[in-house]
Amino acid sequence: MNFPHNPTGAVPDKGTWGALVELCDERGIHLFSDEVYRGLELNRDTTLAQGADLSPKALSLNVLSKAYGLPGLRIGWIACRDPVVLDRLERAKQYTSICNSAPSEILGLIAVRAGDELLEKNRQIIAHNLLSFNAFFSRRPDLFQWQEPQGGCVAYPRYLGSEGVESLCTQLVEEAGVLLLPASVYHSSLTTTPDDRFRVGVGRGGPQEDLDVWAAWLDTRRRA
Ligand SMILES: Cc1ncc(COP(=O)(O)O)c(C=O)c1O
Repeated sequence: MNFPHNPTGAVPDKGTWGALVELCDERGIHLFSDEVYRGLELNRDTTLAQGADLSPKALSLNVLSKAYGLPGLRIGWIACRDPVVLDRLERAKQYTSICNSAPSEILGLIAVRAGDELLEKNRQIIAHNLLSFNAFFSRRPDLFQWQEPQGGCVAYPRYLGSEGVESLCTQLVEEAGVLLLPASVYHSSLTTTPDDRFRVGVGRGGPQEDLDVWAAWLDTRRRA
C-alpha cells in the first residue's frame, strides 16, 4: 500500500484504512505500508495512523526525501513490531551496506525532531502551488480533467486531447522542456490502469514559470 498515493494523490478515509489493516491481520498478511508522503495531506485531519502502529505485523516505510524534503540525506527506515521481520531486514541491509552515513543520521535525527515544522512548511508550499495549478487547469477544461491531490506532492490529471497523452508528453518535453510522466509509465501487469492520465509534480516552489512555458506551448499549438 502507498498513501498518500503516488501518482494519484489519493488518501483513503480512516475507516477504510483500518478495515484494510484488519483484513491483513485476520489473514496473517504482513501489510507493507509506504508512507513517504505521510504528513503532506491537504487536510491534516485526514492523516492516517502508521501501519506499524495499527498492526503488530505491518511494516511502515518512510524516508526523509519526500514529505520532509531532504533527499540529500539519503536516509529512510522501516518500522515494524515483528522481531522476526526486523531480523531478516537487518541481515538484508547488512548484506548490501555496512552502515549509513553517520553525518546523515545526525542530520536526520535533527530533521525528525523538527518534523512538525518541516511538514508544515512543505504543506504550505504545496497549498500555495496548487493555486497556480488550479488556475492553469480551470482555464483549459477542454484539454484537462484536473483534481487536486488529497495528499502528497504529485497529481494525476486526465488529458482529453484527441492525440492522446503519450503524444502530449513526448512533444511537450521535446519542444518546451516540460517533463510530465505519461500513463504508460504506470502500466501494470497486475491490474488495468488508465491510459489517458499523466503525472505532474506540484511540490517544487515557484511552478508558475513552468506553467507559463507549458501554457505558451499550448497556445502556439492551438494557433498552428
Ligand atoms: C511512493 C514512493 N516510495 C518510495 C520512494 C523512494 O524514495 P527515495 O528516493 O528516498 O528512495 C519514492 C520515490 O519516488 C516514492 O514515490
